[in-house]
Amino acid sequence: MQDILEQLEHRRAQARLGGGQKRIDAQHAKGKLTARERIELLLDPDSFEEFDMFVTHRCTDFEMGDTKSPGDGVITGWGTINGRKTFLFAQDFTVFGGSLSESHARKICKIQEMAIKQGAPIIGLNDSGGARIQEGVSALAGYTDVFQNNILASGVIPQISVIMGPSAGGAVYSPALTDFIFMVRDTSYMFLTGPDVLKTVTNEVVTAEELGGAKTHTSKSSVADGAFDNDMEALAEIRRLFDFLPLSNKEKPPVRKVFDKPDRLDMSLDTLVPENPNIPYDMHELITKVADEGDFYEIQADFAKNILTGFIRLEGRTVGVVGNQPMVLAGCIDSDASRKAARFVRFCDAFSIPLLTLVDVPGFLPGTSQEFGGVIKHGAKLLYAFGEATVPKVTVITRKAYGGAYCVMSPKHLRGDINYAWPTAQIAVMGAKGAVEILHRKDLDKPDVIAQKTAEYEEMFLSPFRAAELGYIDEVIMPHSTRRRVCRAFALLKDKDLQNPWKKHDNLPL
Ligand code: HXC
Repeated sequence: MQDILEQLEHRRAQARLGGGQKRIDAQHAKGKLTARERIELLLDPDSFEEFDMFVTHRCTDFEMGDTKSPGDGVITGWGTINGRKTFLFAQDFTVFGGSLSESHARKICKIQEMAIKQGAPIIGLNDSGGARIQEGVSALAGYTDVFQNNILASGVIPQISVIMGPSAGGAVYSPALTDFIFMVRDTSYMFLTGPDVLKTVTNEVVTAEELGGAKTHTSKSSVADGAFDNDMEALAEIRRLFDFLPLSNKEKPPVRKVFDKPDRLDMSLDTLVPENPNIPYDMHELITKVADEGDFYEIQADFAKNILTGFIRLEGRTVGVVGNQPMVLAGCIDSDASRKAARFVRFCDAFSIPLLTLVDVPGFLPGTSQEFGGVIKHGAKLLYAFGEATVPKVTVITRKAYGGAYCVMSPKHLRGDINYAWPTAQIAVMGAKGAVEILHRKDLDKPDVIAQKTAEYEEMFLSPFRAAELGYIDEVIMPHSTRRRVCRAFALLKDKDLQNPWKKHDNLPL
């Protein structure tokens, strides 16, 4: 009996070594942790339960029969993060470069299916050379099975991908189908076609980092939602994000103990908006002053900086925030900002996370590059996302809400539940100068007339009161009381129940 027990321990120890000490050392030399070390940092101590530790590949081509490694390059199982369950897989680069074989894919599929059934998130730690070359089409089939499960899980459980090494070829598509992708700076990259192929096919010379590193994907392509300096920081930040999210679409987000009073006033907000309407201010300041303990988990911080998206808590409950950022492009909405915010709003709505929208927007960004790039369709995505969302929606207009951008930024007319404006709000079709130049074109050579008409326009529209008279604004509030007002609003809306008409699925303008 003792022998049998020892045999199990021996086999386990062998499996834990993955591709062997030499390859583990090589992984460390690159500044990367091993798959097991990553799991230890991601999960609560001693909470990891592993599955399929002894699974090996079944390939016999290319003399592969002699090269079996228990686990076959991916570690799968479940554990807890701050006591809440999650499924996960971590690719082990020390075994065939973490490449995906048929068996490796089956292991991932097994926990994807368990995660859907159990209603718990799945986190993928990706570090892989792509399809296991020796397995040919079986590896491709395996990838596609994983993709299919990603699609079925979408909107049912949160799916988070962390890219912690290479992610090339088909390997990029499983992360791309998940809710969030995070990367590690300098040690991770993602591309469909690598630098060598690019050089041959298009004559372009580019490094892996330039083509698909964290900077490229967080600031240019928007494929990734954030980047961290090293494995340890990345895993700590995933734990922080996890705490904001519900386990599935059947649950509400967790409520955390909070020490910040909901009725805390912040007098500095009364002077946040400068007197000159053309001077910007930082919308981050409003977000952090409203949030519990100033905690804001920003998503896509380096892309389309003219709109801010991320999670805060109010009275311990997760709230998704979308805010125009007057510091960048004066807060104008463009195609990139529309796509970024629309995807965020849809995630929140899918997972019952209420939405707080902070508005200071002079309009859509004009120009041929925007029009040729399809801003009409991209803007429609954001319109659609806010309009279809049934979660509690609270909006605060701090300053400008002009034109089509007013219509898009979660107004009353898109089923906004509670819409506030600060006294500094200006709700109009456009700014005074533009409006008067159109309406009084024939008087443009008469400065007195133009000045008088401008003053009239400003009096009528460049305040929140016209909109408030029409009931499009529920209340004009003092800036310093914003936290108290939005906390009360979300508390009121806690049990909101709203259904959209039945449909097979929608036809979002993609
Ligand atoms: C099998 C692989 C592998 C793969 C790496 N290895 N990639 N084995 N299949 N795809 C093995 C190596 O042979 C090596 O084994 C070990 O992993 C480490 O690889 P190195 O090359 O030594 O590491 P490094 O220098 O860090 O380079 C990593 C790499 C490179 C950039 C990922 O290995 C590479 O370019 N691999 C191939 C990438 C690729 O083209 N994949 C297929 C993409 S196409 P030893 O025994 O020496 O330790 C694709 C299609 C799927 O994925 C489509 C689905 C829709």
